Amino acid sequence: MLSLMLCGVSLALPLFVKAGTCKDADMHPEVISEGRPFAINCTYPSVTNGAVNVTWHKVPNQSPVSKNRQLRNHQDRTWILFLPLEEGDSGIYQCVIRDGHSCYRIAVNVTVFRKHWCDSSTESRISPPNEYQQFLPMGKSGSLTCYLDFPDSCVLDSIKWYKGCEELKAGKQYILSGRKLFVNSVAAEDGGSYACTARLTHLGREFTVRNYISVSIKEPASGLRIPHISYPKNNTIEVQPGSTLIVDCNITDTKENTNLRCWRINGTLVDDYYSDSRRIQEGIETNVSLKDHIFYTVNITFLEVKMEDYGLLFMCHAGVSTAYIMLKLPAPDFRAYLIGGLMAFLLLAVSLLCVYNSFKIDIVLWYRSTFYTAQPPEDEKLYDAYVLYPKCPTESQGRDVDTMALRILPEVLEKQCGYKLFIFGRDEVPGQAVANVIDENIKLCRRLIVLVAPESSSFSFLKGLSEEQIAIYNALIQDGMKVILIELEKIKDYSTMPESIQYIRQKHGAIRWHGDFTERSQCAKTKFWKKVRYHMPCRRYPPSSSVQLLRHTPCNCTAAKWDAATGFISS
Ligand SMILES: *[C@@H]1O[C@H](CO)[C@@H](O)[C@H](O)[C@H]1NC(C)=O
Ligand SMILES: *[C@@H]1O[C@H](CO)[C@@H](O)[C@H](O)[C@H]1NC(C)=O
Ligand SMILES: *[C@@H]1O[C@H](CO)[C@@H](O)[C@H](O)[C@H]1NC(C)=O
Ligand SMILES: *[C@@H]1O[C@H](CO)[C@@H](O)[C@H](O)[C@H]1NC(C)=O
Ligand SMILES: *[C@@H]1O[C@H](CO)[C@@H](O)[C@H](O)[C@H]1NC(C)=O
Ligand SMILES: *[C@@H]1O[C@H](CO)[C@@H](O)[C@H](O)[C@H]1NC(C)=O
Ligand SMILES: *[C@@H]1O[C@H](CO)[C@@H](O)[C@H](O)[C@H]1NC(C)=O
Ligand SMILES: *[C@@H]1O[C@H](CO)[C@@H](O)[C@H](O)[C@H]1NC(C)=O
Repeated sequence: MLSLMLCGVSLALPLFVKAGTCKDADMHPEVISEGRPFAINCTYPSVTNGAVNVTWHKVPNQSPVSKNRQLRNHQDRTWILFLPLEEGDSGIYQCVIRDGHSCYRIAVNVTVFRKHWCDSSTESRISPPNEYQQFLPMGKSGSLTCYLDFPDSCVLDSIKWYKGCEELKAGKQYILSGRKLFVNSVAAEDGGSYACTARLTHLGREFTVRNYISVSIKEPASGLRIPHISYPKNNTIEVQPGSTLIVDCNITDTKENTNLRCWRINGTLVDDYYSDSRRIQEGIETNVSLKDHIFYTVNITFLEVKMEDYGLLFMCHAGVSTAYIMLKLPAPDFRAYLIGGLMAFLLLAVSLLCVYNSFKIDIVLWYRSTFYTAQPPEDEKLYDAYVLYPKCPTESQGRDVDTMALRILPEVLEKQCGYKLFIFGRDEVPGQAVANVIDENIKLCRRLIVLVAPESSSFSFLKGLSEEQIAIYNALIQDGMKVILIELEKIKDYSTMPESIQYIRQKHGAIRWHGDFTERSQCAKTKFWKKVRYHMPCRRYPPSSSVQLLRHTPCNCTAAKWDAATGFISS
């Protein structure tokens, strides 16, 4: 049913059109000089394909123009031909052009004028208008065109160009090429009246076509005839593989230009080249209209840059202009490496320092135990340390101090570590004068160990008895004598202490005893004893060969069994 209806409509339509309702197109004028051949083609943009029926007639005459080719004025297929044009031919000519679907009526207002070419006698007359207006760009090279529109039955050749009445010869300034005249470096004098002539041969008869062209000089339109690509500039782009990259192609073009703008790889549109993966795509073109040109941007998007993309030329095209980008692997950043290396080195140094600080004592003790052999000390000293401790009046305090000085210290330093101590109140020969004992023996010691308890400050023994003073005095003035201050309890206020103690505390610090004062066996490997041993001289080994076995387990809590005490002193 529907197809029947469609069929009916399509059959009825041509009949309806044929019935005479043709659309009128705008009339256009032709101003042509007499005496030359002239032709008009009947065309309408929308009816150029397929077979058309064209009929020409002169208004108001209804009868069509003859198709007899021998006649001066006849129709040649779609053309109306005047061989040549006469003054009486002025008037409105109309053609009706039909194809299967549409019909148009096109009218042409032909005005024929008489022009005397290079005839001095008529120069004074008002010069009639030229047929053609053309332009040449100032300071650039430009071209003029000789319009010769005739049907195929006409043969055209020997085109000549004239400026005024003078024929133009090909040379430095003019290039003659087909129907075009190229003018190099146009100057103001190049404006004026031009003419081109051609020989036309039709059915053996020869005619001369002469076009009058009036040429004006124009400032070039902002100098942008070919599109200008402002970016890319045949540059390389550093990019990491795997990253996303978007690159703009920025183009400036004149408004008249209808160039294709696109990205290509190897001559193929990127969208076609990567049609499967769509990994690299062209963006949608955007434009900004400026005063006398248009700014276009079309981007290319790399969703993920791959190794195969490096070194290829990605071309942006805009008409005849091209420019490319090339991807490049980023150069390694030496500055970053340098800074990184420096930072790493600093970090290493700082951490080494930290490690050393926190393990200094262990490291030194380990070093001593590993690399020091039991060589007899090179100095003249007999003892490793002189132990100085307060004699306390109160029962309990005095007991603690005594326990520390007479039991715990010898237990660890002598029995376990093999040091030799001189403990006042244990080692002096009875009957000797106190001052002499101290003065003589302290010279034989390498270290001075001073035990302090809070109450010891309030004792007068330091003031009355000069044991400490003598000892400390000796320690301070004797070169190389180090003082080890051991606090038996936390001492809040040193200001009541003798100045020499304050001075030592300030200069060398003190080691705090944290344990109790029972005679429980002590271990030389606890923190406290390690500190003490650290401040003691390098360990001394007993000369007896039986002890050599213990050399590599120094200060062993359980195995230290040699008796270091009196044997050494007397030897
Ligand atoms: C003349 O007009 C016909 C019909 O409109 C068209 O097909 C043909 O291309 C035209 N010829 C020229 C040279 O323009
Ligand atoms: C053109 O006109 C001829 C004769 O009038 C006719 O036979 C032919 O079908 C027409 N062609 C078209 C396409 O209208
Ligand atoms: C045809 O052109 C001439 C001169 O250009 C003009 O005087 C005349 O009015 C025009 N005719 C029509 C019908 O437009
Ligand atoms: C291209 O033009 C756009 C403006 O449309 C601008 O933002 C961009 O920076 C330009 N790119 C380059 C590389 O010049
Ligand atoms: C580009 O084209 C050339 C020849 O047309 C070809 O040899 C080459 O392999 C192509 N390169 C790529 C990346 O497709
Ligand atoms: C690239 O073009 C697309 C349109 O195709 C747009 O959406 C996108 O914003 C553009 N990217 C950049 C960075 O200009
Ligand atoms: C400019 O862009 C608009 C919309 O995006 C489009 O309609 C227009 O045709 C473009 N103009 C040119 C000259 O490409
Ligand atoms: C960039 O390269 C293209 C083709 O290789 C060339 O036509 C163009 O002149 C070059 N542009 C620049 C600014 O070098």
